[in-house]
Order: sequence, then structure tokens, then C-alpha cells
Amino acid sequence: MIKKAVLPVAGIGTRFLPATKVVPKELLTIVDKPVIQYLVEEAIDSGIEEIIFVISKDKELIRDHFSPKPELEKLLRDRGKTEALKQVEPIHKMAKFTYVYQDEPLGDGHAVLQAKDAVGNESFLVLFGDDIIKGDVPAAKQLIDNFHGEAIMAVERVNRDDIPSYGIIDPGEENGNLIEVKSLIEKPSPDEAPSDLGIIGKYVCPPEIFDAIQNSPHGKDGELRLVDGLLLLSKTQKIWANLVEGERFDTGKARGLVAANNAFLSG
Ligand code: UTP
Repeated sequence: MIKKAVLPVAGIGTRFLPATKVVPKELLTIVDKPVIQYLVEEAIDSGIEEIIFVISKDKELIRDHFSPKPELEKLLRDRGKTEALKQVEPIHKMAKFTYVYQDEPLGDGHAVLQAKDAVGNESFLVLFGDDIIKGDVPAAKQLIDNFHGEAIMAVERVNRDDIPSYGIIDPGEENGNLIEVKSLIEKPSPDEAPSDLGIIGKYVCPPEIFDAIQNSPHGKDGELRLVDGLLLLSKTQKIWANLVEGERFDTGKARGLVAANNAFLSG
């Protein structure tokens, strides 16, 4: 049973400046709800009970969003604004929220490592802050349903021109919806890519991932990446890719956020 989700949201969101100079990119909205709330709802709809946010001092607004706001609630109650109250009051009760801090943005893997004590010795879901998938079954649930102890990462087929923006997997044996990951290449040219299966920011990891991240090499920019931890883990156990169903939006970029707004607005 996967009951905990780690949401690393301590990145600096350089691709979305100046919007993210003050406002965390995870609080930018799709229609009338911050992106991060869609992700929390995705986790909860997939059976998650505890959300562990990895934040930084600059991202306290995310913590505020999932905390009670008694003055606003009282004002809405006193003024009989029942519908508005229904949008605000339940947010902090949706799950158990835990916060851990990443003091410096040293990579998404380093961020996940900060959650080690909060996760303990159990398998857990990881959702990065910008991949939203619109579909019938929550993407996280698709991964969790396929999880049998070995790490799973979400993938989607990407256009040839977009391959250089993704981590691309080298596929091995197929088992139902799962594809074995023999290796993965970060941002290859379309000609050197071993497939068109691009990794997106959703994973289920066994607890051994923490040691693997710690022992994986730092990238050129000094960052620790979750995918490097997974690659190291693949030396001792199989790791899998799950081709997820649904329409995906990369809300970490303006074009993706606008497309998500159009799609969610039109139902
Ligand atoms: P991204 O690669 O999207 O990085 O991180 P970013 O900083 O948010 O955005 P850009 O690329 O500069 O525009 C993937 C996830 O990992 C988190 C991010 O917040 C995002 O949810 N992250 C990344 C951290 O928590 N800490 C880090 O040091 C790096």
C-alpha cells in the first residue's frame, strides 16, 4: 500500500520567470485552482494519506495554501458566502501535510532525499510540481496499481522534435502496461535516442532509492537527480516505465500552462 507522497517543490522555476520571481510556479493557476492543488488531489484520489512537501523558505506560500485561514473562513461564514467557503475550508483537511526544507536548490534528487526521515522505510509516490495529466484514471493511481516493489516512472510518447528536452528510456521487456527500463539517456538528440518514451515527473519508489540517490554521481551542474538514483538502483533491481493514459500538460512552461487552462476550462 502506498500511503505517502513526496512533492518536491523547492525548485526555482527559471523557465517561467518573471512570473515566478515572487509567486512559486506551483501556485500559478489552471482556471481557478493552483497547479499544486491538482497534484495533491491526484495523490489523494490515488489513495495517498500523507503529503510530504519539500519546500524552501521562498516557497512558504505553498504551505500557506494548505493551512487553515481562520480570518477568511470567518468572514465568508459571517457574510453567508457558503459556496466560497466550500472552496476554502476543506483544503487543509484533504490529507495530512508534512513539510521538510531543502536549504539550497541542489537538484530534484537532493530534494527527495530531504524527505527520507519523513518517508521512513516504505515505498512512496513522487510527484514533481509541473506535470498535470487530464484523464479518467489519475496518473498516480495508474502507477500505484502497477507497483509491485520495483520502481516505476511515468513515461509518454514524445514528438521527435521534443526528444532533446526529455530523459528518454531504453526499453527492454514488456509486462502488461509496464516496460522495463534498461537504461536512460538525458536529453539525447533524436538520432541517438533509443526510443520516443520520455520520462515525466511521476514515480513510485521503494525506500532503497534514498541510498541510490546518495550514491549517484552529481550532474555537471552539481545537482543530484532522481533519475540518476533510479539508474543506479537499476543495477541491483529492475526498474519500470509506465506509459500513462491521459492528456499531459507541462505547466512549468507558459505554453503548457495556457494549454492546460484551455483544456480544463472547456471541460
Ligand atoms: P524542475 O526541473 O522543473 O526545476 O524540477 P524547477 O527549478 O522547478 O524549474 P526550472 O527548470 O528552473 O524552470 C522538477 C521538480 O523538482 C523540484 C521542482 O520544484 C519541481 O517540482 N526541485 C527541483 C526541487 O524541489 N529542488 C531542486 O533543487 C530542484
